[in-house]
Amino acid sequence: MRVALEKRTPTKKKYHKILRYQKKNGSVKTDDRSRHALMTPNLTVEGNLSVRDDLPIPEPKKGQVLIKVHAAAINPIDWKLAEGMIPGAYRGGAVGADVSGVIEKIGPDTVTDLVVGDEVYGDAIDTKGSFGEHCVVNVAVLAKKPSNISMMEAAALPLCGLTALQGLIINGDLQAGQKVLIFGGTGGVGSLAIQIAKALGASEVCATGSQVELMKKLGADSVVNYKEQNLAEALKGREFDLVFDTIGSLEHWEISKRYEGNRYLCHYCWR
Ligand SMILES: NC(=O)c1ccc[n+]([C@@H]2O[C@H](COP(=O)([O-])OP(=O)(O)OC[C@H]3O[C@@H](n4cnc5c(N)ncnc54)[C@H](OP(=O)(O)O)[C@@H]3O)[C@@H](O)[C@H]2O)c1
Repeated sequence: MRVALEKRTPTKKKYHKILRYQKKNGSVKTDDRSRHALMTPNLTVEGNLSVRDDLPIPEPKKGQVLIKVHAAAINPIDWKLAEGMIPGAYRGGAVGADVSGVIEKIGPDTVTDLVVGDEVYGDAIDTKGSFGEHCVVNVAVLAKKPSNISMMEAAALPLCGLTALQGLIINGDLQAGQKVLIFGGTGGVGSLAIQIAKALGASEVCATGSQVELMKKLGADSVVNYKEQNLAEALKGREFDLVFDTIGSLEHWEISKRYEGNRYLCHYCWR
């Protein structure tokens, strides 16, 4: 059984046409056949996803393995794809990216240390289908599951973890001793970013979010509760080398501009 996206998402051209229409009219009028409805915040994705038991078990190709899914996690990208917010993506078919499970089959000519029966976790964003009983994953984004974490814990890590790692290390070039500000410290990406920044030796990690105790427990040196405090005021006079923004609003951008010569990274997507 697999969860499948039934309708086509808009093309890039169509998407921008929708955005222009939304801007001009404030909302979008629609009919049943159109995915425009899914672009408006007050309409839901109802009817767009279905559970199907008629999709074949996928066959792993070169560089891929077939895994029996034990756990899968949901990320914002899953609902954003389903709502058609990402132009040109998902033209129907199985959905779901974060996954953990057991390898059942290895694709032909695949070079890997992994063997059938290994417990693994990884990211099926390119191959799709982790919301199902079986899923194909590229070995390049698959690893053996550590024995001290459960299948559910493992499935919660890949996308958020890779995003936090890429943001802080590859794009942010965070160095030991530097100060980092993380907008959205209680989210999937932000909560891992706090821990990774501390592990990398950041001298100060400041995080914003509404769950103050959680952010402190994860290692944040200082926190700002955006629901109770004025962000601009609370951060006045502070200096940061890197701002990692997992929320992405004009308010955050304006605040980030204060920090002369810093690096600003925004990982929000199609909000
Ligand atoms: N997950 C991924 O792998 C991934 C990859 C690339 C890009 N992204 C994008 O990154 C963004 C965050 O993803 P996520 O997976 O971390 O989402 P998430 O787990 O849903 O977390 C979002 C968090 O945002 C917090 N929040 C909302 N408004 C805030 C504000 N004004 N200031 C501070 N915190 C605020 C909420 O915190 P409270 O509960 O404390 O209110 C919530 O925990 C999304 O736009 C997503 O599309 C995610």
